Amino acid sequence: MTRGFVGAQHKFHDAAFVQGWADRFVPTPPRLALFDLILQHLSANTHVLELGLGPGYMARHILERNETIEYEGLDFSEVFFDVARKTIGRSMPRVTLTKADLMDQTWPRSLARPPAAIISTWALHDLGSQEAIADVYARCHEVLPPGGVLLNGDFIKPEGTDWDYEPGRFEVARHLELLRQAGFRDPVSMSQYETNTENPTAAHNYACLMAVK
Ligand SMILES: C[S@@+](CC[C@H](N)C(=O)[O-])C[C@H]1O[C@@H](n2cnc3c(N)ncnc32)[C@H](O)[C@@H]1O
Repeated sequence: MTRGFVGAQHKFHDAAFVQGWADRFVPTPPRLALFDLILQHLSANTHVLELGLGPGYMARHILERNETIEYEGLDFSEVFFDVARKTIGRSMPRVTLTKADLMDQTWPRSLARPPAAIISTWALHDLGSQEAIADVYARCHEVLPPGGVLLNGDFIKPEGTDWDYEPGRFEVARHLELLRQAGFRDPVSMSQYETNTENPTAAHNYACLMAVK
């Protein structure tokens, strides 16, 4: 018997919902630790693509700490772009906002430039299935140059839980398998955050996966 369900519903195109959600989701110390881990793996003078820019918290964190990075933030929500512009503030001259839907396999054609690194936090699980995330991993492999890195920090289903999770949240081992199937060599899980198997909420249990082309 399962003890409960872990998942969340979002209205990504509703301004009031998005602002309220962004206000509640301000980065906590463990979320900032995830941003720092991702930042450590980005080289200087790199063009970085973020999948699911959201309110721009990771973008601001990275752009303020590395002034040499150029950034492209992809999202399908104009409302989130409005919030992100305010969050990113003075670093906006180094940011391109790209509107595209990650469920549409032509999204790479919308990119302003080929990225040297692709990053994402708490976004891909919202695509709702392993198949959709596998497709994104495959498109990332096509878009990156040899040696290019994909860093995905996202909600996962922890091992050994007896809770049900929404389909976009699944085990780290399966993510690594999908990354290998997409063509990445030796993908790894670098860290897990806010692990809670006993009484998880939708904000617990996320991992940082890294894959190099
Ligand atoms: C939790 S937010 C990302 C937070 C962000 N990493 C940050 O640090 O502020 C997830 C974002 O993914 C976007 N998203 C969800 N599904 C998408 C899709 N199919 N295509 C493009 N963006 C999508 C949402 O609009 C939302 O802005």
